[in-house]
Amino acid sequence: MVRLTGSKNACGQGNCGACSVLLSEFDHKSQTIRHVTVNSCITPLFYVHGCAVTTVEGIGTSRDGLHPVQKSLVQMHGIQCRFCTPGMVVSLCCLLRNNPTPTKADVERAIEGNLCRCTGYRPILESMSPFAVCPMGAKCCKNKSNKLDTNDTEPEARPIDPTQDSIFPPPLMKWHLKDTLSISYGHTTWIVPCKLEQLRTVWTEHPTAQFVAGATAVGATTNHDGGPIIFISCHRVEELQAISVNDKKLEFGAAVTFTKMEDHIRKLEIEGAKPVVSAFLACIQSLASDQLRNVATIGGHLACRMDGLDMIPLLFALNATVHLMDHTGKRRDLTVEEYLSNEQTGKELILNIQVPLDNKVKFVGFYKTPRKRPVGSAGTTTALVLDTGGHFIAYLEGLSPKIIKLDVFSYLPETERTIQSLSLDKFDRILRKRLSEEKAETRDDLVNLSAGVLQKFQAVVNEQTTPEAESPHSELPIHCRSDIIFDEVPDSQPQTDPVWRPLPQTTAEDLVSGQAMFIDDMPSYQNELHLCLVLGKRARAKLVHVDWSAVKACPGVVDWIDHTSLNGRNMWGIMAADEEIFASKEVVYWGQPIGAVVAESREQATHAAEKVRIDYEEMQPVLTIEDAVKLESFIEGAVVIERGDGTEGFLRSNQVVEGTIGTGAQEHLYLETNGAIGVPKREQHEIEMFVTHQAPTFIQKSIASCLGIPFNRVIVRHKRTGGAFGGKESQPVKICVPVALAAQRTGRPVRGILTREQDMAITGKRHPYQFQYKIGFSKDGVLQALEVKVYSNAGCSRDVSLEVLDCTLNFIEGCYAIPNVKIEGRLCKTNTVSNTSFRGFGIPQAYVAMETIIDHVAHVLKIGSKQIQEINFAKSGFVPFTKLPLQDETIVEAWNQCQRQANYLQKEADVIAFNEKHSYKKRGIAMMAIRFQMGYPVSLLNQSTALVHVYLDGSVSLSHGGCEIGQGLNMKIQQIASRALSVPLSKIHIAENSTNTVANATATVGSCTTDLVGAAVLNACGEITNRLQPFKEKKPNASWEELIIDAYLNRISLSVMAQGRPGDGGVYYYTYGAGCSTVEIDCLTGEHKVLSTDIVMDVGRSLNPGIDVGQIEGAFMQGYGMMAVEEWTLNDRGEVESKNPSRYRVPDVGNLPRDFNVTLLSDSPNKQAIVYSSKGIGEPPLLLATTVHKALRAAILSARKDRSLSAFVQLDTPVTPAKIRQACTIGCI
Ligand SMILES: Cc1cc2nc3c(=O)[nH]c(=O)nc-3n(C[C@H](O)[C@H](O)[C@H](O)COP(=O)(O)OP(=O)(O)OC[C@H]3O[C@@H](n4cnc5c(N)ncnc54)[C@H](O)[C@@H]3O)c2cc1C
Ligand code: FES
Ligand code: FES
Repeated sequence: MVRLTGSKNACGQGNCGACSVLLSEFDHKSQTIRHVTVNSCITPLFYVHGCAVTTVEGIGTSRDGLHPVQKSLVQMHGIQCRFCTPGMVVSLCCLLRNNPTPTKADVERAIEGNLCRCTGYRPILESMSPFAVCPMGAKCCKNKSNKLDTNDTEPEARPIDPTQDSIFPPPLMKWHLKDTLSISYGHTTWIVPCKLEQLRTVWTEHPTAQFVAGATAVGATTNHDGGPIIFISCHRVEELQAISVNDKKLEFGAAVTFTKMEDHIRKLEIEGAKPVVSAFLACIQSLASDQLRNVATIGGHLACRMDGLDMIPLLFALNATVHLMDHTGKRRDLTVEEYLSNEQTGKELILNIQVPLDNKVKFVGFYKTPRKRPVGSAGTTTALVLDTGGHFIAYLEGLSPKIIKLDVFSYLPETERTIQSLSLDKFDRILRKRLSEEKAETRDDLVNLSAGVLQKFQAVVNEQTTPEAESPHSELPIHCRSDIIFDEVPDSQPQTDPVWRPLPQTTAEDLVSGQAMFIDDMPSYQNELHLCLVLGKRARAKLVHVDWSAVKACPGVVDWIDHTSLNGRNMWGIMAADEEIFASKEVVYWGQPIGAVVAESREQATHAAEKVRIDYEEMQPVLTIEDAVKLESFIEGAVVIERGDGTEGFLRSNQVVEGTIGTGAQEHLYLETNGAIGVPKREQHEIEMFVTHQAPTFIQKSIASCLGIPFNRVIVRHKRTGGAFGGKESQPVKICVPVALAAQRTGRPVRGILTREQDMAITGKRHPYQFQYKIGFSKDGVLQALEVKVYSNAGCSRDVSLEVLDCTLNFIEGCYAIPNVKIEGRLCKTNTVSNTSFRGFGIPQAYVAMETIIDHVAHVLKIGSKQIQEINFAKSGFVPFTKLPLQDETIVEAWNQCQRQANYLQKEADVIAFNEKHSYKKRGIAMMAIRFQMGYPVSLLNQSTALVHVYLDGSVSLSHGGCEIGQGLNMKIQQIASRALSVPLSKIHIAENSTNTVANATATVGSCTTDLVGAAVLNACGEITNRLQPFKEKKPNASWEELIIDAYLNRISLSVMAQGRPGDGGVYYYTYGAGCSTVEIDCLTGEHKVLSTDIVMDVGRSLNPGIDVGQIEGAFMQGYGMMAVEEWTLNDRGEVESKNPSRYRVPDVGNLPRDFNVTLLSDSPNKQAIVYSSKGIGEPPLLLATTVHKALRAAILSARKDRSLSAFVQLDTPVTPAKIRQACTIGCI
């Protein structure tokens, strides 16, 4: 076994790119080597036969030397938690192998299929700038000074030296498949013919075998359930790979991949093919990612008969035909429509697909909205054709289970049958009529979206036929640019002092090459077992009977556990033990663990877990805030906070308005799923646990109390976590307690790693909220009185919901001083997974509410939001609900600098001018400022411990209570220790976090771990320095190593454990910032783009500007996901629909603001700092994503104004295309 651990499994379904590998193959026709990336998690082994496979380890390692791309990623801070990094490296290196001087657009496209939840993508793109050609030439931003890469600026493209790339194995050059290949593995046989005749022969021999081509649909399913036994692969069959084109038709062999199809048709120069080609290109580019397009075939696409496939409506619209062959060799042609409506065709082989080039076709349109909509998620895909004979036909996917054909003109009297005669209300009427004929139940918002798409097509056609018509397009910059600005260290600071410098992480080289290990990369223990959870499949039901008998009979099964297996408590919870580890009598949310199976292998455990038979008695679940409020299903009583006298405040107000605003759930989608390995120690019930987490003490406590053993028998170890964002504070208990229990019972090491689907089903989300507000204000916009009722969906148990709610209530006032406030909050108890900590901890929802209120006031008064914000900012001395009075606040500096940086006034004028000229596209601009608390309000949590050992060679080992979860904690701690001890960084090593090294650690949450751990490190290092002082006085010129030896010889201990405990009174300072975003919406398709974002953050004196900028960008992008991209949904029965990244979209590189600039506020050292004038940063910038929400609203309000719609829009998050579309038009259709 080669044990290459670089490629990661973050989804197992081809949706994230973390498992990307490079496939290289010799093409005998062109005598060249073709390199492509594929997602290894869904690529069966047979597919790579004859190819060279390069994983990240083959690209570069810290031992053998890094590839220039890896070096650049390290220098540009393109890695945080690093779980996505190996896949990114592979995608970027593949691009360079095929194209040594790519454009920025090429770079964006290359990583379109690689998700990163931490960095915000900008530094990853930037890491390619040394190799990429910038269309700006000499004006390229690379040539500016004071940028993050100033230490390493190389303005000219740095050529890649191809000799550094691994050599394509010469034997593979000679390998040329001429005969049928047969590969067997376990119960599966893959047969790979290379000629159609050979295919027929094997088909005759195996008439029930299943065809496979790119294996993306097959690979994604057989990966988990074993799949059918014999496959016949079409991917090497010569005849099926043919592409033929003439002026009558395009013909694609069934095994032509989307990449080859795109390459081919892009070069076509047949005049009559233009409309068809551009529609195909739009369609192919909307299909997932390069990794998918490189292998997925048009034949497989058609034959997999899934709902939601994008090319099907287009093939319908273009009247494509399918050429089929049965096993006797008989051939026939069918239209695509006929092919799909006939089950019998499933038994035939698709030979090719022909698209007629009918010169009667005038226009073809393809619109997918959202543009990167994952298969099966809400939205629509529409293909439309207008021909010269006056037919306007649309095929709509997404409105009903089947594709709807709409012959638009047939619904109109003959006199009105022109494209110009169509209006939005006509489209709407026609569409609804057509849907009622189909008896299709559809969502209003999607119908509205489709009507918009039809109108968009009409507008495009109109523009081409009547040039004076207003363009529905606007030119957007095609690639991103950015400026990163921060204070450089003074020349007087010694070179050896690393504090305040943007240094790359010292472990980055191991991380970028995939050598650094995460839990599932750890080698297997001898005798290791695997655990798979058994999950409930009802949202609320009594467990009538749970039958394990079939599990016991499954091969490899060693044990099965449920609520009766625990020696300790079956209850857990971070603030109150109110949730069961395993449901005993009743399930309270869909996906709740009922038990677990322990087996010799992961596959055996998974297989056996599916055999548990559960009889339920179903009850009506409570799923939404509205249901819970109606039924008064609450956890604990109301929480009320107040200031001043509301009644008086409203009386004094000139105007009072009321409204509501809601925010949706958000999935953490850290790339490393929850997992644990438990190793029983055979003595005294001791157990050692390796867990992905961010709260060592809570994990230790939960395991101990459920196993019924004291804390001191549980050692929880942790080196790093592949992203957490709050989701690994309490949630790891759901897997680590069962693993510990299984290890305790069997006496063998047990590994349990959640699949992405399990993780998304059983772990809590960001709390959804409903706010009902009433605001009183003066005629010039001074806020007088605020009353808000806040409902939070806590889910089935308390977790940290009350603490999250407290934060929400405390921050609803935002950065404003409102004299009279009453806020009342309630926690709704529902039959959904218990919601939990998420970056921002309830504060992002509060800012969305307050900024909505500001916009509402501005809308009513017809004054700009910015003016309302400015006159209401709280000033020094004001005591917010967070109790710490404002002092030295930098809000105004950040606000003013942000305005200058964003060139606000010019941009605002441009937006107004743009909106005057356009009615289909609108722009919006918005600014906001933020304040975020540092330190826990409960002072007991403001503590941490550090253990420092100095060894006799002068090297330092440092352990602490914080967890490295991608936020750069260890690097900052190393920098702090280096300055505190006056030793170089290279002498300091951060050891793992472990409960037997540092006990009773506070969880790594709240953006204050650097402060807490930093304070402890300063104390520990201070003590070491004190102990060395007498020796230094004796020998002032002695080196560090000499002093250490002297101390040792004098029996002075060189180990210190110290505590840091800032914040005696709770919150100890605030972090401030300001942001400005500009967006453009398409009023017809509901799509939007963030044109620019400018952020100015006050991080005091940044300990490491490279890390802090990364935190700012990553937090902003995650917040942007919450505001406008990520839609988490349940069905009516409470089953999670957003089960995996293919059903739950998070921002990808295409969502990056086109112009993204971050500045760390200059010259603003933190006067209340805990560590070297710095401030905490992980969460605050997430709040600035509210600028996008506000800018979207501004754009929508402009669209509504054109349509004489005067009412304000609330715009619940996430703001999906369907919502934008609806908000632009409601009232006028
Ligand atoms: C991660 C991911 C993202 C995706 N995103 C999108 C998206 O954004 N939009 C979209 O439209 N689709 C999307 N898809 C679906 C994708 O388009 C299909 O999986 C793909 O086109 C199938 O092609 P394939 O060659 O891989 O088929 P395979 O997986 O090889 O086969 C699929 C089916 O077709 C049959 N088959 C294959 N070839 C033939 C043949 N010549 N004759 C008869 N039967 C045949 C097989 O028996 C099998 O039943 C996505 C899929 C994945 C895995
Ligand atoms: S794409 Fe393979 S793990 Fe996500
Ligand atoms: S660094 Fe990309 S997911 Fe964490």
